[in-house]
Amino acid sequence: MFFIKQLNLTGFFLFIILCSSICNVAGDTVVDGPPISGWLAKETEIDRSEIPKNILVVNSLEGYSHIRYTLTIGNVLADRGYNVTFATTGTFPQSPQYPKIHFVSLGDSKDIRYSKDIVYGSYDLSAVANLLERQTKNFKETFLNMKKIAEELVKPDLFLCSAVYNEACFDVAKAMNKPSIGVAIAFVGGRLHTPYKSEPMFMEGCKVNMEHESFWQRFRCEMFLPFKFMMTFGPVVKKFDEVRVSLGLPSQQSPLDYWKNSLFLVDNFFDYFPPLTPDLENFITAHKRTMFVALGTHLYLTPENNAKLLQSIVETVENNIVDGVIWSLVQTKKEDFPPSITLSDGRNISTLDVLNNKNPNIHIIPYAPQFAILNHTNVKVFLSHVGAGSVYESLYTGTPILAFPISLEQPSNADRLVLAGVALRLNKFNFKVHEVLDFAERLQKDENIQINVKRFKTLAMINSKRKYRAVDLIEFVLQASKWRPTEELDDQWLYKEWISPKVRMGFIKGNYLDVYAAAIGIVIGVFAVIIWGVIKIGKLMFRKLFKSSEDKTKKE
Ligand SMILES: *[C@@H]1O[C@H](CO)[C@@H](O)[C@H](O)[C@H]1NC(C)=O
Ligand SMILES: *[C@@H]1O[C@H](CO)[C@@H](O)[C@H](O)[C@H]1NC(C)=O
Ligand SMILES: *[C@@H]1O[C@H](CO)[C@@H](O)[C@H](O)[C@H]1NC(C)=O
Repeated sequence: MFFIKQLNLTGFFLFIILCSSICNVAGDTVVDGPPISGWLAKETEIDRSEIPKNILVVNSLEGYSHIRYTLTIGNVLADRGYNVTFATTGTFPQSPQYPKIHFVSLGDSKDIRYSKDIVYGSYDLSAVANLLERQTKNFKETFLNMKKIAEELVKPDLFLCSAVYNEACFDVAKAMNKPSIGVAIAFVGGRLHTPYKSEPMFMEGCKVNMEHESFWQRFRCEMFLPFKFMMTFGPVVKKFDEVRVSLGLPSQQSPLDYWKNSLFLVDNFFDYFPPLTPDLENFITAHKRTMFVALGTHLYLTPENNAKLLQSIVETVENNIVDGVIWSLVQTKKEDFPPSITLSDGRNISTLDVLNNKNPNIHIIPYAPQFAILNHTNVKVFLSHVGAGSVYESLYTGTPILAFPISLEQPSNADRLVLAGVALRLNKFNFKVHEVLDFAERLQKDENIQINVKRFKTLAMINSKRKYRAVDLIEFVLQASKWRPTEELDDQWLYKEWISPKVRMGFIKGNYLDVYAAAIGIVIGVFAVIIWGVIKIGKLMFRKLFKSSEDKTKKE
C-alpha cells in the first residue's frame, strides 16, 4: 500500500541536517595557541587513510540550477581527498570551479521542458503522477545505462543521489550493495511528517501551516486526504514497481521507500555563480530600481499569461514603480506571445519591439546569471516561480519576492514565503495587471517586508554553511560502511547510531500512545467507580428514606 501518512506513522526516519554553521566550522578555525602553555590541542581531522574513496554523484534533472547543489557537496568532498565523479544528463556547464571533480555523461536529457498539463493545469496530484509516469517509461534504459557506468567506469563506494526524478540512482546503489545518500534542494513529499505542517502539492486545499486551521480542516488533511492520495498514486506506483521488479530489483511499496533508514540531506545550498555579462552590468547600473523576472529552467506560461505579464512589465516601468526590468525567458519563445498587446490606457504596442529590446528600460534575455543579478543592489524585486533554488538565492541576497508559482511544490513555497513576510503572491489563473504594479510597489516600500527580508538574509547566509556538516555525515557513512558490526541484526546496521528507539518501537509504543491510553483508561475507570459508588449510595439513602417514610405511614 502506498500511503504517505502510513509511511510517516511507521516512522522510519531520515536523518536531516538541522545543525547550522557553528556545528562544524569551529573545528576548522585556527586558534593562536593553547590557553595555558604546554596544553595540547585535540585532533580535529579524522583519519581518512582507511575510508573508501570513490563517490558517484548522480543528478538526472538537467539545468544548472538543479545540479549545482550536488556539485557544491561534491566539491567539499573532493577537497577532502575523495575521488568524486559527477554524472548527469545532457551537457554540463564547463566549470573551472570544479577542477577536482570528474564528469561523466548519462546521455541526452529527456524532456527538459515540462509538459503542458504540469504547467497549465491546476495545482494537484496529477502533475506529480505525470512525472512518475514519465520516469516509468524511461526507467529501464536509465537504470541499465547508469548501472553500466557505475560498474565499469566509476566503481563507487557510495552514491550521492539527487532525490528528484532520479529513482534509478538509488536502485543502482541497491543492486551494487552500496550505500546511497539522498540530496534534495528542498521539500520532498512525505519525507518528513509533522501534522501541523502540510504539503498542498499532495494534500489539496491544506495550508502549509495548519496552526490556525479548524478541527475539521485538520482532520481532513491528516486523515481523509491521504486516502485520496493513495487512490491517485496507487496505480502509477504499482506500474513503476513492476518495471523495477522486471529488472531484478526488490519490490517496494512506494518510491519513498528509497529513503527508508538512510541519510538524506535537504535544503542545500550552492557557492559558485556565473558573473554578470557586461550588457547586464550596464543595464543594471543604469537602472537603480530594477525588477528581475525569471520562471526557472523548466517552466513557461500560457500564451494569455505571457501577454498579461508582458503588459504588466511595460506598465510597471511606465508608471515608474521600477525603472527597469530584466526578463529571462529560458523556455519561452518569442512566438509564445501575441503580436501586439493593449495597455490599460488603450494604446496598442508591438510585442516584438519589446522582445527585441527596443524599449530601453526592458531587457529581455534568453538565459540569466540569476544570482549575480539578484546580488546587485539595484535589483529591488524578484518576480519568480519560487522554485527552491530561486527562493534561496533571493533570500540570500535579500531581494523581496513577487511569487508567481506555476506547478509542483511552488504554490507551497509561495505560501511559506508569504507567511514569512518576504513575498506577495500572484495567482496564475487570474492575476491582474494592477496587482503586479501594486505588489511591486509594496515590496519596495513596506517596512515589515524590508525587515523580514533582512532577517531571512542573515538566516540564509548562516545556513548556507551547512555543506561542511553534510560532508561530515557523508564521511561517517563511508567510514561506517567498512565496519559492519559482528552481531548484526538487520539491514539497518549502517545507520544504527542514528536510528532512534522511537522508530524501532513503532508508532504506538514509539509515541507512548499505549501508556497514555492506559492512563486515560485508569482515570476514566476511577471516575466510573466514583460515579457508580455515588449512585449506589444515593439509591441506598433514597431507599432508606423512602422505606422509613413508608414505615411511618404504615404505623400511622
Ligand atoms: C577516480 O574516478 C575515476 C572515474 O571517474 C576513475 O577513472 C579513476 O580511476 C578514479 N581514481 C582513483 C584513484 O581511484
Ligand atoms: C489594438 O489591436 C487589436 C488587435 O490586436 C485591435 O482589435 C484594436 O482595434 C487595436 N486598437 C487600437 C487602438 O489600435
Ligand atoms: C555579490 O555582491 C558582493 C558585494 O556587492 C560582491 O563582492 C560579490 O562578488 C557579488 N557576487 C556575485 C556572484 O556577483
